[in-house]
Amino acid sequence: MTESINAIVLAAGFGRRMQSDLPKVLHECAGRPMLAHVVGAAAPLAARTVIVVPPDHEAFKSVMAEAGADDVAYAIQPETRGTADAARIGLEALDRDSGRVVILPGDHPLLESSTLAELIELSTTTGAAATVLSCRMRDPSGRGRIVRDTDGSLLRIIEDRDADEDQSRIDEVNGGIYVFDIARLSAALGKVDSENSQGEFYLTDVIELLRDQDEMVLAHMTHGHDCFGVNSRTGLSEAAGLLRERTCSRLMDAGVTIVDPVTTYIDASVRIEPDAKILPFTFLEGDTRIGRGAEIGPHARIVDSTVDEGATVTYAVVRSSSIGPHASVGPFASLRPGTKLKEGVHIGTFVETKNAVVGAGSKIPHLSYVGDADIGRDVNVGAGTITCNWDGTAKHRTVVEDEAYISSDTMLVAPVRIGKRAATGAGSVVREDVPDGALAVGVPARIIEGRGDRMKKHPTSADADAPTRDNGD
Ligand code: UD1
Ligand code: CA
Repeated sequence: MTESINAIVLAAGFGRRMQSDLPKVLHECAGRPMLAHVVGAAAPLAARTVIVVPPDHEAFKSVMAEAGADDVAYAIQPETRGTADAARIGLEALDRDSGRVVILPGDHPLLESSTLAELIELSTTTGAAATVLSCRMRDPSGRGRIVRDTDGSLLRIIEDRDADEDQSRIDEVNGGIYVFDIARLSAALGKVDSENSQGEFYLTDVIELLRDQDEMVLAHMTHGHDCFGVNSRTGLSEAAGLLRERTCSRLMDAGVTIVDPVTTYIDASVRIEPDAKILPFTFLEGDTRIGRGAEIGPHARIVDSTVDEGATVTYAVVRSSSIGPHASVGPFASLRPGTKLKEGVHIGTFVETKNAVVGAGSKIPHLSYVGDADIGRDVNVGAGTITCNWDGTAKHRTVVEDEAYISSDTMLVAPVRIGKRAATGAGSVVREDVPDGALAVGVPARIIEGRGDRMKKHPTSADADAPTRDNGD
């Protein structure tokens, strides 16, 4: 592309058909607000992007910043008087009187950069005053129709509500995505009136106005879903399904096994390395990365987390956590934010962790809560162990040193430190620090120096299946 191009995204309409308190374009579609999808598609091509928003637009700024799409300018449309009025306001904010501009609706989450690039290319090579993207739709109702002359050239766009019977039958719809020559658009916008069923200033009227002045206007038909505008909750779910389908296909093409794309929900932002296997009923969301050969699901929800190579996660919820290489999580585990599992860790059934580091080769196999804790390497945490991290006013940390052995049903009353190769007896309530190698037993636990080391043969990550005294895993 030779000349630099700017983009205007129309987003000031409220979208009443959504029946929502949230402006339509801020509704999430496959993990991202619709508006962020559109801005993201324009970003690689547009030097500057102006979003036309309603006067009360604080939510736009915060939602877009959260979605990482904050490198944009905002122009305010005081009243939603129609897409032509919004385009005029966007143009004023761009403050350019020549060159080309892309105009996009904020409610088209399926728009792809490559399609937009085609439209820009067509516009620059032909020098057309207007190029508009169109597509055929099985159910064109609700969309503007592309009216062509007998020779196939673009005559005008007629809105659904203003269409007569013949025009209603046209299945080529206006995608609402345009590239205009700025000077000719500005002149035509000045002539648009609101003589239509909605009493609005339609941007679509510009096409006929330009054509009447013998300007070149072109409709470029695409076969993708770029023209799919979301106007209702039903449309939103359809668009999300199509986006997910697209994401799954892209990942499968890149070497990821997805057993059943229909029941797999992966945000476009998720990165997955080849030979990872995603089993059904899995949700991968936000800033999540899955390593080579990892196996996720069935039934996993992983949000903003990292799963390293060869790890497995099954029937589990994982949020803002990291899972080291070859670690295993689940079934029925909840990793809450701040959990960091090192290589080969096993988190088993009905285990909850939070803000906890678990060292390489350590196991928490059954029915435990481990929060605000630093667990060392090759530690065995027996069934039913709880870190009592909350004393009613503040949170405290539990530290368990390498190769310690925590027997079943131990209550670790934080702040507390269990020394290296130390042990606790079943059912003990440990309120004070246990020195290296010592054994703590009883309620509250008595400390017996030098006995911890005799509780068991310490399994290491190398002999992970070695039997242990209390919890047999
Ligand atoms: C519009 C087109 C229609 C096309 C369809 C594609 C017009 C008149 N019609 O219809 O031909 O088939 O898109 O999806 O353009 N907006 C503003 N300010 C306004 C009005 C709208 O910023 O005053 C914004 C909306 O927030 C939305 C976009 O413009 O993002 C399109 O508006 P919408 O009301 O959804 O138009 P459609 O009826 O879908
Ligand atoms: Ca629309």
